[in-house]
Amino acid sequence: MKNSDSNEVAQKVKPKSTAADGLRELFIDELKDIIWAERALVKALPKMAKNSSSKNLITAIEDHIGVTETHVERLVKVLEILGESDRGKKCDAMEGLIKEGESILEDTEPGPVRDAGIISASQKIEHYEIASYGTLCAFAKTLGETEVAALLEMTLKEEKEADSKLTESAYNTINFDAAEHDMK
Ligand SMILES: [Fe+2]
Ligand SMILES: [Fe+2]
Repeated sequence: MKNSDSNEVAQKVKPKSTAADGLRELFIDELKDIIWAERALVKALPKMAKNSSSKNLITAIEDHIGVTETHVERLVKVLEILGESDRGKKCDAMEGLIKEGESILEDTEPGPVRDAGIISASQKIEHYEIASYGTLCAFAKTLGETEVAALLEMTLKEEKEADSKLTESAYNTINFDAAEHDMK
């Protein structure tokens, strides 16, 4: 790709004075990131439910609001076990994923097409969470934090279930209904 950046030499990044210098510190940083993300989701999900049309999808999203609240509580507990405060740190990735979801609402008419867009945005979010919790579980085990690892593993399992539910609703009806709109 030719652009103005292509001539720039990649630079080594100079760490900030607060940079993590061990796996434990990195682990805590990432926990603070994901608790911010989960709290942002608790606020964002009702809008997604409100803009969905399919009953299945509304139920799936509404159920996931409760599940997400549990994830926040679990993270508060995890941080407490580790002797850390539960203050979050802004997660740029989740902020971007939520923004993308909101722009899908503006870009679609209510009904099956918007529903398909909401599923697409929600699955990107679930996959981000699955990746995050997968890494956090691995870090917890490496650090010998078995109680914490067990709590994170519960959340990881629930994120995977949420993702499958969304896939099911997409494949069972919603995508077909959305495609029908193309044929009209
Ligand atoms: Fe979650
Ligand atoms: Fe989730």
